[in-house]
Amino acid sequence: MCGIIGIVGTAPVAERLVESLRRLEYRGYDSAGIATLEEGRLSRRRAEGKLRNLEAVLREAPLEGRIGIGHTRWATHGRPSVANAHPHATTQVAVVHNGIIENFRELRDELLKDGSNFESETDTEVVAHLVSRELRGGRSPQDAVAATLPQLKGAFALAFLFDGEDNLMIGARKGSPLAVGYGAGEMYLGSDAIALAPFTDTIAYLDDGDWAVMTRDGAVIRDAANTEVTRPVQKTTASAFLVEKGNFRHFMAKEMHEQPEVVAHTLAHYIDMANETVQLPTDLPFDFTKLERVSIAACGTAYYAGLIAKYWIERYARLPVEIDVASEFRYREAPLPRDGLMVVISQSGETADTLASLRYAREQGQHVMAVVNVPTSTIAREADVVMPTLAGPEIGVASTKAFTCQLATLAAVAVAAGRARGVLSADEERRLVRALVEVPRLMNEALKLGPVTETLSRAVSRVRDVLYLGRGTSFPLALEGALKLKEISYIHAEGYAAGELKHGPIALIDENMPVVVIAPYDNVFDKTMSNMQEVAARGGRIVLITDKTGAEHASLETEATLIMPDMDPAITPLVYAIPVQLLAYHTAVQMGTDVDQPRNLAKSVTVE
Ligand code: F6R
Repeated sequence: MCGIIGIVGTAPVAERLVESLRRLEYRGYDSAGIATLEEGRLSRRRAEGKLRNLEAVLREAPLEGRIGIGHTRWATHGRPSVANAHPHATTQVAVVHNGIIENFRELRDELLKDGSNFESETDTEVVAHLVSRELRGGRSPQDAVAATLPQLKGAFALAFLFDGEDNLMIGARKGSPLAVGYGAGEMYLGSDAIALAPFTDTIAYLDDGDWAVMTRDGAVIRDAANTEVTRPVQKTTASAFLVEKGNFRHFMAKEMHEQPEVVAHTLAHYIDMANETVQLPTDLPFDFTKLERVSIAACGTAYYAGLIAKYWIERYARLPVEIDVASEFRYREAPLPRDGLMVVISQSGETADTLASLRYAREQGQHVMAVVNVPTSTIAREADVVMPTLAGPEIGVASTKAFTCQLATLAAVAVAAGRARGVLSADEERRLVRALVEVPRLMNEALKLGPVTETLSRAVSRVRDVLYLGRGTSFPLALEGALKLKEISYIHAEGYAAGELKHGPIALIDENMPVVVIAPYDNVFDKTMSNMQEVAARGGRIVLITDKTGAEHASLETEATLIMPDMDPAITPLVYAIPVQLLAYHTAVQMGTDVDQPRNLAKSVTVE
């Protein structure tokens, strides 16, 4: 995690570094800091917490330098504090880092013996001291960095600024992403194209192992073997405009309300409306009819989207699906079928575990399909086929519109696979396409549950634990509902397959525990109702999310019943996601938490 920016500029850079850090805050907001050269000398300003704290520090003590680096932190080693905030520095060099230096303890012990004094608890500070030691030994900055990089184990993107060097910045990448930006008489380094977008649309992504020596005139890039290389310089489409909240109180609220529109865009990308068929790219490097199995890996909400896709792909394409959370998949050494298909799902396209899963699958000869929201991301660049989710920038840390756009995309994949494998007839495909086309309208209907969920949230905000239950595709949605609630309201919540209730969690049920039951009137409705009866018999407080027919058949007292519009059971996860998100959102607002930037989290998890 963490965001990095560097500017070798022709005018003061502090304000622009901060502007860029604002765009990188999705990578962490535990602390922020910048370093510039003030009359040739390294100077730092750092602050714990959100970027506005750094801005306040800079108002008190401005920096004027024309070259500088900046960082926004998600704490890995050492708690959030000014001392642990980047840039870390000696008198000779300042460094910002995204990633983890795994061997920092050994390096630190060795440097301590050598007389280095450490100011922080971070893994990063060893990098500054290693480079400093080389500089003291008489090496040039370039040679000092070249001698340091091979000593570092783990993942890193680094940017270095050197005392007395007004026209030199060095960046290095292994594992964590880093891009070089080309401007008019200026050069930039950044964690992503979004950070660089206000300054330039011309960038080159460093490959793993690359390091770049930058001056105002350009960059010389070398690979891990120190051979000079050229990396493709490309135009990015990342927007220079910062997304605004508009009339909404939070980005999350705005993003929930954007869902009908962005899901419609995403569906339009995959559906041929005139022929009522699904259209995937025609040049897929694999053949659905030849696949024995699909593997899916993703994290968090994206994993739950994958879990729903498993139900769809198995049902509509009769194709077995294996799914793992990416942090398990990457180390599980799973045997994968010859010429198999691996699907990775990621909003950011930078999640370290998902990226590692992609690379493992590639090594095992799989075709890799990435369902990804950021088209310039590492996962998008490394996949064989990119299936874009056209959600637009998602700023709220809790994923909402990216999730439903992932579902829209995965539904299209399932239908395309079903047709290709001869499982779905033309009529069945048409029925599913028509159902999907209805989703944006139904989402608009579901958003009208805002006031009811707001009222309900007053009761939910007073409890300690909440249980979410569902069957079929409503089971992963129950997991997602619990995740959404806990991450933004900090109320403990668990999602369960409704049938699992009596195998343990039923012991938790009492009059204090709300149980949110997600139960559209579908083929497993009656089964879920039996589980609801079991909750009611033990005095549990039931919040039922169902449709009109479901409410009529429920025949038992609930604390609240949220009535959803009628719809084809195939598309319920897309639409039922809305009340689940609304309930979490309003509960968090009741609790007064930081909805868009909940504690301890970051939007893009670039460390494992
Ligand atoms: C939860 C949430 C996270 C992400 C997860 C994967 O609301 O947003 O669980 O889904 O960190 O992130 P991406 O999709 O960027 O790979």
